[in-house]
Amino acid sequence: MITDLFGRALDYLRVSVTDKCNLRCAYCMPAEGVSLVPHRAVLTFEEIERLVGVFASLGVRKVRVTGGEPLVRRGIVDLVGRIVRTRGIESVPMTTNGLLLAQYARSLKDAGLSRLNVSLDTLKEDRFLEITGNPGLQAVLAGLRAGRAAGFDRIKINAVLIRGFNDDELFDFADLADECDFDVRFIEYMPFGGTTWERGKFMPASEAVARLKEKFPLEPIEKRSSSDPAYAFRIPGRKGSIGFIASVSESFCQSCTRLRLTAEGRLIPCLHADVSLDLREPMRKGATDEELAALIQEGARLKPKAHEDFLKDFSSEAARRRKMISIGG
Ligand code: GTP
Ligand code: 5AD
Ligand code: SF4
Repeated sequence: MITDLFGRALDYLRVSVTDKCNLRCAYCMPAEGVSLVPHRAVLTFEEIERLVGVFASLGVRKVRVTGGEPLVRRGIVDLVGRIVRTRGIESVPMTTNGLLLAQYARSLKDAGLSRLNVSLDTLKEDRFLEITGNPGLQAVLAGLRAGRAAGFDRIKINAVLIRGFNDDELFDFADLADECDFDVRFIEYMPFGGTTWERGKFMPASEAVARLKEKFPLEPIEKRSSSDPAYAFRIPGRKGSIGFIASVSESFCQSCTRLRLTAEGRLIPCLHADVSLDLREPMRKGATDEELAALIQEGARLKPKAHEDFLKDFSSEAARRRKMISIGG
């Protein structure tokens, strides 16, 4: 078991398999782009497989595949299969922007991928182009249909809530949840380096909930697991659900069970803390599984109790340095 200094048992690993992305979302990707990691710096499939095995031996049970955009990594289906087959790993979901999903959904299902979370912030073509820099809305919608047809159910849609951009689409997303039986989740806009975050674009989840309540009765849904970052509602008589990830206004750090591994093999114990620990070089220099396990335990001890209050201090150096694109959400 990997336990941190605050008694949290960490059984959920998010593995970023590439820092490349085929979209340029304004809330994630710095406008100037990011310098891509050289090929040899990126973990090979064998290295990822080995590290996942070590994490599993320490009690990790869920491995979420993230990016950048995971589907742009060549051989991704093979990699998913390797993670799925790792002894001890019980669930292997993926977070994707959906652009390439139509092409991959069936083979991902066959490889044993457990579930899909798809990022989609708007249902309007012009806005999709504006926020992602790509006219790909129809491709994402086709990806979602392909995901369903391939047998993925309880697909989650992640929409970053941005005041003045998509806060007038709450009801459209509620309709999408109903029509397609999706679990839509609005994520509070978090400040990351180089993005277009500003105080005025931030909308607290509570405000969106209040707006929805003006039109619909919202029935709270019990969380499936205590570490789920979202709280969700059902609208009576409608399918799907509408949830909120209020990471800015209502921190859920006390129940966080996540660790992150970057494409370059750095262990990141917290999305918002400026600490990490390299696993790649020790591994390439011949560390044994036991030595890697000890390093992972050491990295877990760096996990802070909670993140700082973003609304007080976005200007902090650490917030500016952190890049969502290379951490993988
Ligand atoms: P499930 O396994 O379906 O519960 O997925 P998830 O919510 O853990 O994963 P997903 O990639 O869909 O994450 C959705 C968003 O939640 C992320 O992009 C972040 O915005 C937010 N989030 C996830 N993990 C953390 C975390 O550790 N801290 C904070 N503050 N936000 C997080
Ligand atoms: N604030 C909130 N969520 C973000 N994501 C990326 N950048 C941000 C941000 N600044 C979300 C994406 C994706 C997930 C992995 O991270 O929408 O769903
Ligand atoms: Fe956990 Fe850090 Fe995320 Fe808070 S910010 S929920 S401590 S990973």
